[in-house]
Amino acid sequence: MLCLGIETSCDETAIALVADGQCIGSILGTQAPLHALFGGVVPELASREHYRCIGPLYDKLMSDTNVVIDDLDIIAVTRGPGLLGALLVGLAFAKGLAIASDKPLIGINHLHAHLLVADLEEPIEYPALGLLVSGGHTHIYKIDAPDAFVLLARTLDDAAGEACDKFAKMLGLPYPGGSIVDILAQQGIADPYLFPRPYTSGPELDFSFSGLKTAAAMYLKQYPQLVEEGRRYCSGDNTSIKKEFYNVCASYLLAISETLYIKMERALHKHHHEIKTIIVAGGLAANTFIRQSMYTFAANYNRKILLPKHKLCTDNAVMVAYSGELLAKKGYTHNLDVSAIPRGQYIPNDMIKI
Ligand code: KG4
Ligand code: ZN
Repeated sequence: MLCLGIETSCDETAIALVADGQCIGSILGTQAPLHALFGGVVPELASREHYRCIGPLYDKLMSDTNVVIDDLDIIAVTRGPGLLGALLVGLAFAKGLAIASDKPLIGINHLHAHLLVADLEEPIEYPALGLLVSGGHTHIYKIDAPDAFVLLARTLDDAAGEACDKFAKMLGLPYPGGSIVDILAQQGIADPYLFPRPYTSGPELDFSFSGLKTAAAMYLKQYPQLVEEGRRYCSGDNTSIKKEFYNVCASYLLAISETLYIKMERALHKHHHEIKTIIVAGGLAANTFIRQSMYTFAANYNRKILLPKHKLCTDNAVMVAYSGELLAKKGYTHNLDVSAIPRGQYIPNDMIKI
């Protein structure tokens, strides 16, 4: 089965081809440098950039892989959650291709796709416990099958990725600063008592990272020289950066990774005997501290862990194409009226089973 995947939920325009569980081509245009000028994603600009780039990227991928539209078995496209205008560009393009080629279409849940792509590298043994840590979401799911996700926990406010990006911004680092904080933190020594493990004192499974962000803001107010170090680092003058600067980055990421550990442990205890695999996915699954903490978690509980390679952790279309293939193999498609679902809204299970 040959599946085309299209991803335009945020600031990456991505297209990929997956054939029987193998990625045969993938192309991605990032808008990050554009949005960095504004310190965050500007939705209107994101839509315009997707609209400008999607056609040429599609043409290039098809010619690079020598695939023609008639070779496709199904067209998969991210239908949400994401920025509404950005999603509409991908959906309209996918619908156009489906009408032109008379091929079936399937709308993909971006969050589920982040987790399912782990299966491309190594088979998921179900049921699995999935931690999705991205820029906009921090979710824990029990996953019984590619079409059976149960949401166990979500963030009540900021996502872990937002907490990283906002911390980076406080330090004067460019958007999206999560991966820069990660690089800096690797040169530091984490102080486990510097920042709280937010929303962990009660029995709740849900997350809340806003308290951690406030704690960091208060700390940086007390030590403004750390922000100065951030500015110097950005200007390329990192010769005499003080170790405290690296240490505060390490302490912050340790707080996030230990908070994730605590909640995953609680979720596992709830479904202890059933869970066979731990999956960690989304942009923050590329983070060194979170990867280490989740490897330790899986080892402590003697579970198989799947952590996709970095390129498959951040937004990409391989995950969309592969999810499309998994769902199509189970007989699912969508009609042409499949809708775009913005962030924060419920994604209906409105697939049609043939
Ligand atoms: O999954 P993703 O690519 O896009 C969304 O669906 O949100 O995640 C993007 C998030 C951003 O917050 C980015 O700063 C963060 O992932 N990120 C990282 C790292 N790589 C990406 N955060 C910390 N450490 C990293 N290595
Ligand atoms: Zn994502």
